[in-house]
Order: sequence, then C-alpha cells, then structure tokens
Amino acid sequence: MLQPNYTEKESKLFTGRTYYIRQVEDIISKKNLAAVIAPSGLGRTALLKHLAAKHRYIYLDLRRFSTTPESFSVELIGTVCFFHLAKDPSELSAFQGIERLKELKLGRRCADIISTVDNELQKIKPDQELLLKSAFGFAEEFAAEHNRKMTLIINSFDELLKLNNFSQVKDILGLFFNSISKNKSCSFIISSSSAHLMKNALKKYTPDIVELQPLSLPETKELFEKVTGKSDERVIKEAHSISAGMPLIVRSIASRFKEERSADAQKNIGLVRHILTSELATVGSASYSYCSRLFTGSLNRARGESLLKAILKAVSQNRPLRLTEIARLIYRSGPVTKSLLERLMEVDLLVKTGNTFDFANPVLKLWCRLMFSNVEFDETPDERSLAGFGGLP
Ligand SMILES: Nc1ncnc2c1ncn2[C@@H]1O[C@H](COP(=O)(O)OP(=O)(O)OP(=O)(O)O)[C@@H](O)[C@H]1O
Ligand SMILES: [Mg+2]
Repeated sequence: MLQPNYTEKESKLFTGRTYYIRQVEDIISKKNLAAVIAPSGLGRTALLKHLAAKHRYIYLDLRRFSTTPESFSVELIGTVCFFHLAKDPSELSAFQGIERLKELKLGRRCADIISTVDNELQKIKPDQELLLKSAFGFAEEFAAEHNRKMTLIINSFDELLKLNNFSQVKDILGLFFNSISKNKSCSFIISSSSAHLMKNALKKYTPDIVELQPLSLPETKELFEKVTGKSDERVIKEAHSISAGMPLIVRSIASRFKEERSADAQKNIGLVRHILTSELATVGSASYSYCSRLFTGSLNRARGESLLKAILKAVSQNRPLRLTEIARLIYRSGPVTKSLLERLMEVDLLVKTGNTFDFANPVLKLWCRLMFSNVEFDETPDERSLAGFGGLP
C-alpha cells in the first residue's frame, strides 16, 4: 500500500503527542469515527501523518480535492483505489479519473458503485446526492471486499462544507455521517483547524473529539534539543513561552539558535527572542509564510473586509482590549464592533477572555504587529535593524 509523503527525517523529528495518539487509537479501536480538532499550527497534520505511517492508515487532505459533487466523488473513490492498487505515486491523477476506475478489476459491489457514478456522470443533470453517497460508501465496500480493515484520515474536513453550495446538496454532513454510520470495515478520522466551525457543525453528530493542545514544556525541550543538542533550561523555557508551544515555531527557532548561540547564557535568552522576531519579519521564512497564510485564509473565511482588518491591526498593537476600546479605535459603534468581533472569533482569530479580546495565537499577534508596523525584510535582519522596534513584550 502506498504511504503519504512522510520522510524518515520527519519521522525522526516527530516529538511527543503520545497522549493524543493513544486517544485516537483508542477511539478507532472501538468506533468507526474520531474527530481531531486543533487550532492551526499545533501540528495536526504532522500528528495525522504520523498515525498514517504507524498504522498504514490512508491520509487525504480535502484541500487537494475538487469541491463539485461530480469531481469530488470520482476523486474520493479514485484515491481509495490509488492507495491500495497503484504501484507508483505518480498514478494519482490517472486514478482520479472515471475512465481509469472503470478499467479496474474490482469485486461486484465496488464495480457497481463505480458504474452508478459513471451512469450519473453521463446525464445532463446528475443526481449529486447519489454521487456523494456512493463515494462516501465506497471505502467500506472496498475494505469488505478485500477482507481488510481500513482507516481513512480526512484532513481539512471543513472543505467538505463547500459542497453545500450546490442546490441539490442540502446537508453534506448529514449525507456523510449517514453514509458511514454502519461501517464495519472502514473507520474515519476527520480533522480540521477550524475549531469553532467544526464544533458547531459536529454538534448534531457528536463524534468522539480529540482536541490537540500546544506542545508541553518537556515536549518543547525534546524537540528543541533534537535540533540543537543539549541546551540551557532557561533558553528552552523562553523558546517554549514565545512559541506558544507551536512545533513549527519551536523548530525554526531551534535551527537558527544552533548556528548563532554563544557561550553567554544571558545573551542566548535574548537571542531566542531576537530569532523569533526576525523570522517573523523576514518574508519567505517558514514562520512568516505560516502566519501570512493563516492571516489571509482566516480573513477570507470571515469574509474579510476593511473593518475586520482594522480590528486586527488595533488588537495586534495593544494589550487585550475591551469592546468599547476597540470600537473607539476603529471609529465604529459598540453593536457594529461586537458583530465584527464575533466574526473574528468564529474563524478562531480572536478569543474573548473575561471582557477583553485578544489574538488566539500569540505568534500571529506578533507577526501582525510587525506587518502593520512596516517591519518587513527580504533578508534576515540583524539585531540593529530590529532595535527600534519593541519586538516581543
Ligand atoms: N510533534 C511534532 N514534532 C516535531 N515536529 C512537528 C510536530 N508537529 C508538527 N511539527 C512540524 O511543525 C510544522 C507544522 O506542523 P503541521 O503542518 O502539522 O501543523 P498544522 O497544525 O497542520 O498546521 P496548519 O493548520 O497550517 O495545517 C511541520 O514542519 C511539522 O513537521
Ligand atoms: Mg495542517
């Protein structure tokens, strides 16, 4: 069976997460559905790929799928077949076409599903719900026919909701959950970073949910030292605190720290802080790209407009703010500001604690502050270039 792209180097660097791995394994040993939810950047994809490699689960990311019912159905069936039957990763696009699927030698029930799909696709107005139902049910038939258990990991599960935009499709989640509810041979692990949206969407279906948290201090230490070798506890504590336990950030701080550290312990603590600020200010660094992607993607989902951006700018430049303070800063009334804040919370950009609002992700807050303050470089800046700017609080 083909495996997702997961190199040996990645596998060696993968750190911690044993508690969550066990939780998912435990659910899947008893039920046919588990949901893994985590804010972006906490290493959800890495965890899922690790699970896939460990147990030979199939790993799919819906961001790579078309989201029309017609294409989606063929691609989903095709991908299940691809993982089991293809000899080479380059065959994926061929497997995602109906012509190739029709040629496969499969048992009667799988062949029937493919011919149902093919039949619908010939029509001027295909039955889109039938297409999707067929696709969701295919993996179970495939597993049963081949007499094996199968687990499908579906990352970016929220992409599925885009199928609700088609008039024939009334309730894509209902369709999905009903199609798999009696599965005996095939389980699903669904996952998304849209925590707010997912929790709302899944309320009705109550799957067992595993919620990923940031790396713990010992996990940060382990990951940091995998990159740098033995390091000063205070440096690690600092890295843990400013990275908010996000593995990507820990790794990028660690790899530069390894090159730039000195013998002076106090200087090294300052260095860790400088590295993060400078990474976030350098266009194209891994941390910069991550924040930029998260910022744009979340604003798009919130149907981003000028006022949402104005709020993010104001909040990024301040300590946590009250509603009235934000309203004043963006020159809008309380009620208007309140509904804008709700939209920003729905896409997990902001959180409310007590009666103040702040970024959910402190690293993104720092990135926004730098970006809105025009602190941006094409090449890694030295300490002098960043000096005038406050950097980390
Ligand atoms: N447990 C871990 N150990 C070591 N490295 C990790 C771990 N988790 C994540 N990483 C690394 O951190 C980076 C980001 O992780 P990942 O892509 O899994 O985040 P994500 O939560 O899926 O982000 P997004 O929301 O953007 O999809 C990757 O380079 C990944 O290899
Ligand atoms: Mg991911």
